[in-house]
Amino acid sequence: NAMPSRFVVVLVSVLAVSVSIGIGVIIGYFSHPSANSNVQAPIEDESIQQKLMNSINKENIQTHLKFLTKKPHIAGRSNDEVELVTYIENEWKANGLDNVVSYPYNVLLSYPKQGDSNYVAIVAADGTESDISQRKELVIDPEQNDPDVVDPFNAYSAAGEPEGDIVYVNYGTIDDFIYLNRTMLIDFHNKICIARYGSIFRGDKAKHAEQYGCAGLILYSDPANYCVPGEGVYPDSWYLPPTGVQRGNLKLARGDPRTIDYPSIPTAWFKNVSETSLPKIPVTPIGYIDAVKYLSKMGGPAVPAGWSGGLNITYRIGPGFSGTYASSKMKMSVKTENEEKEIKNVMGFIRGSVEPDRYVLFGNHRDAWVFGATDPSSGTAVLMEMVRSYSVMLKQGWRPRRTLVFCSWGAEEYGLIGSTEWVEEFQKQLLFRAVAYINVDVSVKSSYVFSCRGVYSLSNLMFDVAKSVPNPDTAEVSKGRTTVYDTWLLRSPFNSSDPSSLPFFGTLGSGSDYTMFLQSVGVPAIDMTYDYDRGLGISSYPLYHSVYETFDMVTTYVDPEFTYHLAMARIWAEAGRRLSDSVILPIDCRLYGVYLDRSYDSLMTIYGKSMRGNGIDTDKLKEVIDLFAVAANEIHDKENTLDLSNDFLVRGYNDQLMQLERAFLDQNPLPGRPVYRHYITAPSQHNNYGNSGFPGLVDSMFDIDADPDQVGRWEEVKRQYSILIFHILSAASTLRTPVPITQFSVHN
Ligand SMILES: *[C@@H]1O[C@H](CO)[C@@H](O)[C@H](O)[C@H]1NC(C)=O
Ligand SMILES: *[C@@H]1O[C@H](CO)[C@@H](O)[C@H](O)[C@H]1NC(C)=O
Ligand SMILES: *[C@@H]1O[C@H](CO)[C@@H](O)[C@H](O)[C@H]1NC(C)=O
Ligand SMILES: *[C@@H]1O[C@H](CO)[C@@H](O)[C@H](O)[C@H]1NC(C)=O
Ligand SMILES: [Zn+2]
Repeated sequence: NAMPSRFVVVLVSVLAVSVSIGIGVIIGYFSHPSANSNVQAPIEDESIQQKLMNSINKENIQTHLKFLTKKPHIAGRSNDEVELVTYIENEWKANGLDNVVSYPYNVLLSYPKQGDSNYVAIVAADGTESDISQRKELVIDPEQNDPDVVDPFNAYSAAGEPEGDIVYVNYGTIDDFIYLNRTMLIDFHNKICIARYGSIFRGDKAKHAEQYGCAGLILYSDPANYCVPGEGVYPDSWYLPPTGVQRGNLKLARGDPRTIDYPSIPTAWFKNVSETSLPKIPVTPIGYIDAVKYLSKMGGPAVPAGWSGGLNITYRIGPGFSGTYASSKMKMSVKTENEEKEIKNVMGFIRGSVEPDRYVLFGNHRDAWVFGATDPSSGTAVLMEMVRSYSVMLKQGWRPRRTLVFCSWGAEEYGLIGSTEWVEEFQKQLLFRAVAYINVDVSVKSSYVFSCRGVYSLSNLMFDVAKSVPNPDTAEVSKGRTTVYDTWLLRSPFNSSDPSSLPFFGTLGSGSDYTMFLQSVGVPAIDMTYDYDRGLGISSYPLYHSVYETFDMVTTYVDPEFTYHLAMARIWAEAGRRLSDSVILPIDCRLYGVYLDRSYDSLMTIYGKSMRGNGIDTDKLKEVIDLFAVAANEIHDKENTLDLSNDFLVRGYNDQLMQLERAFLDQNPLPGRPVYRHYITAPSQHNNYGNSGFPGLVDSMFDIDADPDQVGRWEEVKRQYSILIFHILSAASTLRTPVPITQFSVHN
């Protein structure tokens, strides 16, 4: 927490030295003698921070959002890949960035069939279809009536027209299927499952349904997960109306499924689509206006506690319908097709003055399922204005110490395709040169509380930044909570029963473009948003991926004054400025020790007893984590005695801080998980939106009791345990003095 004041001291001294040897430019403050009389100002001067923040204008954010959401802009089609790409390129060139470059990739996308959209229906024994689901979402506001709206579908679904008995599978988690299979003895073959959205990534629902032999899967949004009783629905509030449908992709692999590990550039070898891991069964989404028709007619036992949703019916497991529908089946008609398309990432660069080969990256995706006024254009609008504010600083003679890279990703909604292809193409540069990646996907879901997740070594940075940004919540300000940090701590403390708690700082799963940076090249990453109140119990912001995510919806229900968008732009800009301009990188290794401790505690809670019962000495891992903590404290303390006038020493020290995250990467990806190489943190295996600490080890023990090969499975656990210990020792060693290379001794 002492960082900012230390930086002032640090930078003042560097400035003094630099000026005295007559090379003022090396410290990153380019002065225009004519335009700037304040040549002596240290770069960490409050005025730089204040100028940057004050140059951000909320009206500009609103104007950008209006433009970006005029038309639906799905990936691979011209509204996104031509019109919006050109718009962003032109703006950034006009801002005077040093370079604006587009990176194209030919990738596999997926669309519903134009004019023959997907539906589901009840089919009687004589073949008559009834209760046909809406193929399109109802137009509620004329602005939604646009021929470019893509009808509801799940990307990469197989095509097909299966018929069968319906089975309700709750969220479709692996535990839900295990319960139905082992306790309810449901045979899933030739069944059409219906799962509600929520709890886990929809692609995992599809994987589980396929694994259990279902013929098809219907996904629907239950009011229990997207509405609050008594609060009304859109257009009277921001909750999901019965006709709203959540689109979304089902692909589990990141990036183009035909080029796992490598970029989809013209010289690439592309795997035959039939050989990829795309879903093999039809999957399509519906709204609850339709779901209730099928669920209310089901037979079989009532669902167990916790499986009922918010519809006024008795939820039943099935299989099949009852009463007059007993001989009817559920039918799906899915015509979704894969198509090869060109997508583009637009990147803008501001070259660093001292360390141009060190990159601080800011990323947001551009493509939306429909209008995308929240996802992602609320983030794109903020990105555009943040870039302009940086360009204002450039024009005033400021230049960051390290290079800034602004990224507008293509085809994120299709499984992080643009960012994954780019990280794959430039993995060598990023591995050695990238300092940090800061992601903003949706910038403002709601105005309740600022929310931030990432690697723990950047958490103090984010707390400090949040303390420096004025609170957009005027009611909170009037109660004395004047900064973003104050309301963050109040509404989202890490531990509400601890008076000295910090704000909640989450860990990263795999919901957006930070994934490959962290998981494949070990770049410390942050993801942030202004969030809704998690106490509402809803599964996402309600209109997520529906046609109702429009500009007017944002100005009516989310952020009418654009003050929360403004706060996000300021937080993003200031976090990036500190990462790019601070002489010593604001990466705090000690906090990684905290993460290791927490992961250890939860590992012991769940698996400690059975690990010890199978001959694993769990104290050894604890011992190694303690060695890491010692090394982290040592390097942190060294900062106090570092000769900041010596650029080589500073660079060497910063490189050690950067290397920490890379030390957790393995040349072998996690078992069964191509491209995920980080052995300390990964998206959870059974819920890609969630996070798992020690993923290699934890995955090796999943459902281990049910495995007949106990000996073989526990050998694999022991192997994973040793790999985990190796990585933590390896990280601790990188933090030590470079000479000699430290080998730790751990008891056997
Ligand atoms: C449960 O799943 C297993 C493995 O897929 C399968 O062999 C078994 O037949 C299933 N049980 C029932 C009752 O279908
Ligand atoms: C790709 O797979 C399809 C379906 O299995 C097959 O018909 C086709 O010949 C394959 N193409 C190549 C180039 O192997
Ligand atoms: C729920 O359904 C029952 C039976 O159809 C009906 O009597 C009751 O009024 C409904 N409740 C609500 C809150 O709609
Ligand atoms: C939360 O804080 C209380 C009070 O300090 C403490 O007893 C408890 O262990 C903490 N819980 C966690 C999960 O850290
Ligand atoms: Zn998004």
